[in-house]
Amino acid sequence: MAYYRAVGDVPPKRHTQHRRSDGGLYAEELMGEEGFSSDSALLYHRGNPSAIVDSRPWDLPDLTTVPNHPLKPRHLRLHDLFPGEEWKAADVVTGRRLVLGNADVRISYVVAGEASPHYRNAVGDECVYVESGAAVVETVFGPLAARQGDYVVLPRATVHRWLPSGEEPLRAYVIEANSHITPPKRYLSRYGQFLEHAPYCERDLTAPSEPALVDGRDVEVWTKHRGRGPAGLAGSVVVYPTHPFDVVGWDGCLYPYTFNVADFEPITGRVHQPPPVHQVFEAGNFVICNFVPRKVDYHPLAVPVPYYHSNVDSDEVMFYCGGDYEARQGSGITPGSISLHPGGHSHGPQPGAVERSLGKDYFDELAVMVDTFRPLDLGEGGVACDDGAYAWTWSGRGPEPR
Ligand SMILES: [Fe+2]
Repeated sequence: MAYYRAVGDVPPKRHTQHRRSDGGLYAEELMGEEGFSSDSALLYHRGNPSAIVDSRPWDLPDLTTVPNHPLKPRHLRLHDLFPGEEWKAADVVTGRRLVLGNADVRISYVVAGEASPHYRNAVGDECVYVESGAAVVETVFGPLAARQGDYVVLPRATVHRWLPSGEEPLRAYVIEANSHITPPKRYLSRYGQFLEHAPYCERDLTAPSEPALVDGRDVEVWTKHRGRGPAGLAGSVVVYPTHPFDVVGWDGCLYPYTFNVADFEPITGRVHQPPPVHQVFEAGNFVICNFVPRKVDYHPLAVPVPYYHSNVDSDEVMFYCGGDYEARQGSGITPGSISLHPGGHSHGPQPGAVERSLGKDYFDELAVMVDTFRPLDLGEGGVACDDGAYAWTWSGRGPEPR
């Protein structure tokens, strides 16, 4: 995110003495990507960011996966994962249920009512899409408000915690990268400014505007890091003698931010526009797109729903989070559903959807799509909410009894 911001109290020159009112020095920390060779931020701490007093194991939620074999497109009903009042005791960090994953990305779902512990994902950036509900995300850079439709982008290693707010459950669709999640390079000038053709720009991004200063002693930070467990991960609870939210000021181009899906300006055309026009973010070996309510194709003979397509290099994961998804009518898919269309399966509209779409000029649909360039496996949550029948919805029948 090459967009400079400064918040709170920073000295006029970097790497120079920055003193508290009692004369003591603040501790300057550079949080930087790709060593010292990409975006970074300088944070000024009251305490010592290296000081820890304990580290003990954290058993991560179940991250085991099974392959999508025999190969099938799938319909996963995420809302079934948190029945009844279960959500009231769950939090956004420890309550995640792994739905799909591979060596590049893990997609989880959680419905939460409780505050999460302080958390640091040291493996990659997180992009959390708020399906519904609201929260305050307290971060070492300062607090962020999150509401329905927000993507909350949290750079790798950002200490933060989720505090659901309001009466409604917080429904979160969590995309964890093993890399960085950024706006697509083609949206940016060579110096990093959003270009005129991009469907969103700097004004649509919200970052912390004031520092977070919290007093505290022996604060646990639940840290997800590279290790020998499932998915090559492990967890540790690291204890800091002073509160990690002790930053009086920071500046730079690396920080958490939110972007609301309602601020995505759809690109439309006379005939069907391909999914790359719907792209929001890119990351290592996957992309994130969204399909928002929009005017649809206006050629007099246009077919507004997508043509059948075999995106041979990708597995395609669509999360339906609002409206009525035109191409999937008759498949059982509703808000809260995921469709997984794996590489090797040519997919497209359900029977009758093409004819029904003719002459329509507006689609009231909202979906978040993740396309991965390596095949996705099913996590325990994905297996638990698989409807088992989606694969046969185009033909109208499943296998004959043997
Ligand atoms: Fe597709």
